[in-house]
Amino acid sequence: MKPYYITTAIDYTNAPPHIGHAYEKVLADVMARFQRRNGREVYFLTGVDQHGQKVQKSADKVGLSPQEFVDGITQHFTALWDKLNVRFDGWAATTDVKHKKVVQAMLQKLHDCGQLYKKGHTGFYSVRQEQFLTDKDRGPDGNFGEEWGEVVELEEENWYFRLSDHVEWLKGYIQSHPDFIFPAHRATAVLNALEGEAQDLCISRPIERLTWGIPLPFDERFVNYVWFDALTNYISFAGYLADEVGNTGLPKFEDIWPADAEIIGKDILVPAHAVYWPIMLHALGFPDEHIPKLVVHGWWNVKGAKMSKSTGNVINPDTLADTFTPDGLRYYLMRDIATGYDSDFSDERLVMSYNKELAGGLGNLLNRSINMAQKYRAGILTPGTHDDAENAALRQTVAESLPAYLENMNGWAIHDGIAAAWKIVTHANAFVDSTKPFSLAKDPAQAARLDSVLYHLAEALTHVTVLLDPIMPTAMKVAREQIGWDMPTGFQFKDLSWGLLQAGHQLSAPVPLFPRLEIEAPAA
Ligand code: MSP
Repeated sequence: MKPYYITTAIDYTNAPPHIGHAYEKVLADVMARFQRRNGREVYFLTGVDQHGQKVQKSADKVGLSPQEFVDGITQHFTALWDKLNVRFDGWAATTDVKHKKVVQAMLQKLHDCGQLYKKGHTGFYSVRQEQFLTDKDRGPDGNFGEEWGEVVELEEENWYFRLSDHVEWLKGYIQSHPDFIFPAHRATAVLNALEGEAQDLCISRPIERLTWGIPLPFDERFVNYVWFDALTNYISFAGYLADEVGNTGLPKFEDIWPADAEIIGKDILVPAHAVYWPIMLHALGFPDEHIPKLVVHGWWNVKGAKMSKSTGNVINPDTLADTFTPDGLRYYLMRDIATGYDSDFSDERLVMSYNKELAGGLGNLLNRSINMAQKYRAGILTPGTHDDAENAALRQTVAESLPAYLENMNGWAIHDGIAAAWKIVTHANAFVDSTKPFSLAKDPAQAARLDSVLYHLAEALTHVTVLLDPIMPTAMKVAREQIGWDMPTGFQFKDLSWGLLQAGHQLSAPVPLFPRLEIEAPAA
């Protein structure tokens, strides 16, 4: 089977990462880990979007070259992904020479087949903001407001891509491929955007205005602008045209394309990913079966409002990972949002999810289960001969949670996948309360029952550590170390069946997995 190719948006490098960036990368990492344990080979690509006007301006402001500037910001991203255990296989930095070569070769191809043309445009240009303005930028009085500074009428030539030639194709493609976009309802917005007169896409900026970009191979007076540079990372780092341009060390394109999931936020679906991108590929000659699939997630807002530097409500994932541990943050980011919908970032819910669910629910269950087995049986498990309805019910919950977990995770409902695994935690905690091992331990006649109870708890927990491994890889590994069960290399979800722990299994020492935090609400 073809490897599962998963990728994310590449992040702008004009500012350090915030919680929205972290969410998207963790979501991709969780899915990559899930797919691997589900038996697929995976190629996970992520990276940074380093060109453009904003970068050029920000670098100028601080007196750095654009490359120095983006290198500095890029480090914040790579350090955060390392800290959060986001383990990608390919790194897409758009200033990488491998990428530049592919973008240029691709532009040349489109140029050669008549898909690009040069045209003059007369319009109103804001000198301060360095951009052309449209009627939408006019104030209620019909004039351009003061924020634009001096506005002059200017004629400028640029290169355009014949986007409008392919709009009818795209409409048909979307209508006949309901799985192009997840969640499916987002396709409506794309089809609506395709109504009305189609415009071609301006793909260049003259070098007098922008130098920080990839030069057009057929016209040195221009650099490529934005989307042809950014979107193409998905193919350039997957080995597209590798032989032609002499790229090495990349996957074999024929083996991994198309992407099974390009994970993006809802803001960059229309027009970039759902219009420009498929049309670009189509114009390059990609057949319909080679159009990648999009997974569109919602936004993390803060108290209902959009995060923004100006309101000062930007949530910093780095400090949160320090307070709640990287896995604590990963867990919150996965359990408190439904993929495709918005969520509200809340300190209170983050503290609750850590203290109540991780520390109080899972951590406490692991701790007391191992503690009791250590105390009553020197940590040695004996499934024994005793069985009863309570034991059978717990085994049933474990058995039923696996298909529910798999179905939800496969359908991007990560929060429901977590909930399916959590049923085991909840049931096992109730099982301790109802079987009362501490009372059984006092009655020698109940010795066999106590054995079975201790075994059921440890075995059920072992299953939990496998199911939650994609979400909390570090903590689940530590939990397995305490249980004393080394997950065999290549172990897959399909290998989960009751009896992972053998008779005579020796548990290790219990250490609190998620030490309770004595905080009400942290400062992010
Ligand atoms: N560079 C472009 C994407 C090019 S992809 C070929 C870009 N960068 S970005 O840094 O602004 O955003 C990167 C990703 O983070 C996007 O998918 C975006 O939707 C996502 N998010 C940005 N803010 C977000 C939230 N507040 N919440 C969740 N995700 C958000 O766009």
